[in-house]
Amino acid sequence: MSELSLRPQYLSQYIGQDKVKKELSIYIQAAKARSESLDHVLLYGPPGLGKTTMAMVIANEMDVQVRTTSGPAIERPGDLVALLNELEPGDVLFIDEIHRLPRVAEELLYSAMEDFYVDIMVGQGPTSHPVHFELPPFTLVGATTRAGMLSAPLRDRFGIISHMEYYETDDLKEIVRRSADIFDTEIVEEGAFELARRSRGTPRIANRLLKRVRDYAQTQSDGVINRQIADAALTMLQVDHEGLDYVDQKILKTMIDLYQGGPIGLSTLAVNISEETETVEDMYEPYLIQKGFIKRTPRGRMATAKAYEHLGYDYIENK
Ligand code: ADE
Repeated sequence: MSELSLRPQYLSQYIGQDKVKKELSIYIQAAKARSESLDHVLLYGPPGLGKTTMAMVIANEMDVQVRTTSGPAIERPGDLVALLNELEPGDVLFIDEIHRLPRVAEELLYSAMEDFYVDIMVGQGPTSHPVHFELPPFTLVGATTRAGMLSAPLRDRFGIISHMEYYETDDLKEIVRRSADIFDTEIVEEGAFELARRSRGTPRIANRLLKRVRDYAQTQSDGVINRQIADAALTMLQVDHEGLDYVDQKILKTMIDLYQGGPIGLSTLAVNISEETETVEDMYEPYLIQKGFIKRTPRGRMATAKAYEHLGYDYIENK
C-alpha cells in the first residue's frame, strides 16, 4: 500500500482543516463558475499536515493537471522556465518549500504570477538580450513551514493564504480509521483514539505510527488494534503518554538537565541534540510550544513547569 493511496483526492474526503477547506471550496467554486484559473494559493504550517495533499486536491477539484517541484530542486532560472513552459491553461504548479527557491528564480515568479509572462535573458555579453515568454493563466500553489520566511514581494502575490493547523484528536482519529480501512486492518475505537492522541496532531505521524502498531498487533496479538496494543507498541516506539517522541523528550531533558530550564538559544539547543536548527524550529518547537512545554522569551527558549512535571522533576523557576 503506497503513501499515495492514503491521500484524499477531493475536499469531501479530506478530514480536518475545516477553515482552510471551507474557504478554498468557495474560491474554487467561484473560479470554476467564471471559467477562470484559481488565484495563487500559499499553504503554510508545520511539516506533515497535508500541504502537498491539499495542493493535489485543489488541482483535482479544479479539474486540471498539477506539476510538482520544490524550492531546493530549482537551481537555475531555466529550471523554473522549463516547468512554466509545460503548463496548460488553468494548471496548478506546486512548489514545496517555496521559501528555499533561489532569489533569481523567485524574481521570475513575480511577473509570471501577476501577469502570466516571463522575460528571460538569453546569450552572453554584448549579444545578451531579453526574450519575452507569454504563459497561460495558471495557479501557483506554494507550501512553506512559515509564511514569515517568504520575501514580502512573493508573499504579496498570493491571493489566498491558508494556515494549516495541527489536527484535533477527533479528526486524527478519523484519519487513522480511514487509513486502517485502506490497510485492511481492524482497529477498535479506543485503539484509534490512543494512536490519534499520541501523533503530535500530525497525519503523517499518525499514519507512520499506525503501520508500526499494525506490525505489533499482527505479531504480538491477533492483529486487532485495541487501546492496550496501541499503548504497548507506542511505548516500545518511545512515544510517551503526551505523544512526545524521543527527540521531543531529548529537547526537554537537555533544556532542564544541561541548561537549568533555559533560556537557551535555538542553535545551541539544536547542536546539543544533533539536529538541524531548521528541523528543531519547524518540526519540534511549534508542537512543544502549543502543548505548553516550552515558551519563547526574548532571551531564548525556556522549559515550563509543565515540562518539569512531565519529566518527573521538581519545578525550579529560573528567572
Ligand atoms: N490522510 C492523511 N491526511 C489526511 C486527511 N487530512 N484527510 C484524509 N486522509 C488523510
